Amino acid sequence: MLAVNKMQIAIDGPAGSGKSTAARRVAQALGYAHIDTGVLYRAVALIALRQEVDFKDNKTLAILAELPDLEVKLKSNGSPVYFIAGEDVSAELRSPDVNRKVSQVAKIPAVRSKVTHKLKDLGRQGGIVMDGRDIGTVVLPAADVKIFLTADLATRVARRQQELSNKGFSLSVSAVENEMLQRDREDSGRQIAPLKPAPDAYILDTSDLTAEEVVQKIISLVKQREQKYKT
Ligand code: DC
Repeated sequence: MLAVNKMQIAIDGPAGSGKSTAARRVAQALGYAHIDTGVLYRAVALIALRQEVDFKDNKTLAILAELPDLEVKLKSNGSPVYFIAGEDVSAELRSPDVNRKVSQVAKIPAVRSKVTHKLKDLGRQGGIVMDGRDIGTVVLPAADVKIFLTADLATRVARRQQELSNKGFSLSVSAVENEMLQRDREDSGRQIAPLKPAPDAYILDTSDLTAEEVVQKIISLVKQREQKYKT
């Protein structure tokens, strides 16, 4: 167990369940660091697309997964800006092309092993909120608080479409829905670290909740855990 102000908080769930927004705001409220772990897989996919790497070339993709050039800086409002070799790639990391390819990259064992190793290192000291697919099950299996967010498909599609439109990409509902279903299938069906709740995760359906309500619920679970440690 880590000191109360140094807890590890794991937030997992499918695309569009609201993980990253919730994780970022919970981290801000607690004064913790936040890591959106999907960004690492997205960065590998983006670099591979740019370098026209064959997505079946696991060896080259595993080398890209070392991600020596990936940097994150926080804006004054706390939202992250991602750079690869000094170039701001925040919008491109969420592009439809990356969305289509990222699950293929994320199911390669050698890529996962590199990314997982990096994430475990980053989480070791605690004081961290990580969101992803396998945080409570593989990356931080001893996390103090584990949350698994879900939402119905229509809600997830609407959120993803909004996110895409904010980044300047316009896609039909059916295109977003098909991409999301495909990604759900690949993320849940892969052999290594599939998307699934840890046995001790708190499952929270966010379909009818605002982002603020999700944040408040997670913070109340963190406070409960703190109380338990103090008694
Ligand atoms: O959360 P996201 O949509 O940015 O994640 C992008 C992809 O990365 C997603 O399809 C699955 C993969 N991923 C993963 O396999 N494990 C994680 N911990 C985070 C993301």
